[in-house]
Amino acid sequence: MSTKTVLITGGASGMGLLLGQCYAKEGANVVLADVNRDALNSCVDEIRTYHQNVIGVQVDVRDYAQVCNARDEAVEQFGSIDILINCAGGAETRICNAQGEFHETPIEVYDFGLDVNLKGAFYFDHAVMAQMVKQNSGVIIHLGSITGEEGSGNAVAYAASKSALMHGVTKSIALAGEHHNVRCVCIAPGPVLTRPAMANMKTMLGRAAEPQEIVDMIMYAASEKCEFLNGVTILMDGGRSVMFNK
Ligand SMILES: NC(=O)c1ccc[n+]([C@@H]2O[C@H](COP(=O)([O-])OP(=O)(O)OC[C@H]3O[C@@H](n4cnc5c(N)ncnc54)[C@H](O)[C@@H]3O)[C@@H](O)[C@H]2O)c1
Repeated sequence: MSTKTVLITGGASGMGLLLGQCYAKEGANVVLADVNRDALNSCVDEIRTYHQNVIGVQVDVRDYAQVCNARDEAVEQFGSIDILINCAGGAETRICNAQGEFHETPIEVYDFGLDVNLKGAFYFDHAVMAQMVKQNSGVIIHLGSITGEEGSGNAVAYAASKSALMHGVTKSIALAGEHHNVRCVCIAPGPVLTRPAMANMKTMLGRAAEPQEIVDMIMYAASEKCEFLNGVTILMDGGRSVMFNK
């Protein structure tokens, strides 16, 4: 089997970093793309202690020129991009430390949320699809969220972005890739312990997910074993959505 190249946005933290570590352990070429240069450098250094084929590319997913540059660096280094995993993101109210109600929160906070969570993934899909069409193969993974299902009274742009990725974008990218052997899947986690506050969110199991549980699902969905999986969202939330829909 030929060596795969995996490009992971948000690769300097949380599930993105864990994906980079896991793919590197499997022998894949890994491209970590993240806005946080210091974190990126130390993540790449850490992975290089056991795997040479990893590079870091500093990129702000809100900037399409930077996104194209990240794609080009990946292709220049490794020759292809077989799997794109869009992990970069997070709730704008948390990242911008905006505590107020929706109507009190500056609109710039929501612009930021839409740009990072929705347009960022959209930009990467667009830029990398051009390469995958040339290859006539590829898998694109989106990270949705239980918040995209439930909504949120303050992280409104986050909820809207995740919902769009889960419902409109994943289906549309699957259709766009139909004649090019490119498929697209969204994994939408419930609470994940990449940060301690997530432990307080209810699930049927009475706990949040370990990052590894979600990463295992992402890697399975991106693998050849899941060739038949396309244009859908897998909600991996410990039963939270059915608990509250009763
Ligand atoms: N942690 C959870 O409970 C949870 C639940 C559901 C969905 N998710 C989603 O899963 C994904 C990963 O979550 P996590 O908790 O591992 O994330 P994290 O907060 O640990 O890491 C996010 C990474 O994205 C990077 N990033 C942020 N803005 C960026 C930008 N403009 N350009 C490039 N990089 C940028 C950050 O620097 C960081 O390294 C996110 O999309 C998140 O919304 C997380």
